[in-house]
Amino acid sequence: MENFPVINMEKLHGEERAATMEMIKDACENWGFFELMNHGIPHDLMDAVERNTKEHYRKCMEQRFKELVASKGLENVSTEINDIDWESTFYLNHLPQSNISEVPDLDDDYRKVMKDFALRLEKLAEELLDLLCENLGLEKDYLKKAFHGSKGPTFGTKVSNYPPCPQPKLIKGLRAHTDAGGIILLFQDDRVRGLQLLKDGEWIDVPPMRHSIVINLGDQLEVITNGKYKSVLHRVIAQTDGTRMSIASFYNPGKDAVIYPAPELVEKEAEEKKKHVYPKFVFEDYMSLYAGLKFQAKEPRFEAMKTMDTRVNVGPIAPILIS
Ligand SMILES: [Fe+2]
Repeated sequence: MENFPVINMEKLHGEERAATMEMIKDACENWGFFELMNHGIPHDLMDAVERNTKEHYRKCMEQRFKELVASKGLENVSTEINDIDWESTFYLNHLPQSNISEVPDLDDDYRKVMKDFALRLEKLAEELLDLLCENLGLEKDYLKKAFHGSKGPTFGTKVSNYPPCPQPKLIKGLRAHTDAGGIILLFQDDRVRGLQLLKDGEWIDVPPMRHSIVINLGDQLEVITNGKYKSVLHRVIAQTDGTRMSIASFYNPGKDAVIYPAPELVEKEAEEKKKHVYPKFVFEDYMSLYAGLKFQAKEPRFEAMKTMDTRVNVGPIAPILIS
């Protein structure tokens, strides 16, 4: 089995730049996932995020989760549960507008560190998009522009905890899915594992590594790269011991961004025959479809977008302004 790709970002500034870029390319093409070390986000900030998140869970979320489990009778299930996940979550929005000051039950220090962390993740996401462009042979800002829409990208964080689960075989922490959006940056627990991705028909652990950021690619990057890069199925297996922290930040296109395969990446022959494998659509329309189909395969979603009455015409590939 090949090793899970771990990228040391420091090497992008030295003699090993070309080899590191090649590792990122291979990870994007063959894994849909990679793990970053030396990404520039201060470790003491990550420690503060972790400390605050775990304390907030204990103070504000744990009891609520226990009550939910009891009310649904999930402790003693005897058959597989397919409509609920064993997770406790809340969401923060950063772009186009932050809602951190309005989210209840967060103390000032927690709000402050999450704001700072989100700003640094936003910069890291943009740096990564530029690196992807370089590997794809696209102009440097191509992906950032593709995500821009009229109000810039959407950026948000899902803060999750996966408490110990008595029946991890019967209830998933999070059922298998691909992510709908652009690029996802995950700060995961370094002791309690559980995240797995599907590669060549096998579920593979994403290894916990202290102070790393796990990156994965969403459906929109698969569309824009015309399938050169793939969004990959992943899931969380809750553990019988230990609560797993998972802070996933989603750097996505703006609501009205028009998403379509980059013309440079569409095979010439396919272009002539107008046989684009991937559709063209407004990101918000994709998200409306995804909302009800998250835990189903992505291919039917792409197919549905081809026939759906979206707000873009499906003629020649060119950016279209949405009024
Ligand atoms: Fe996901």
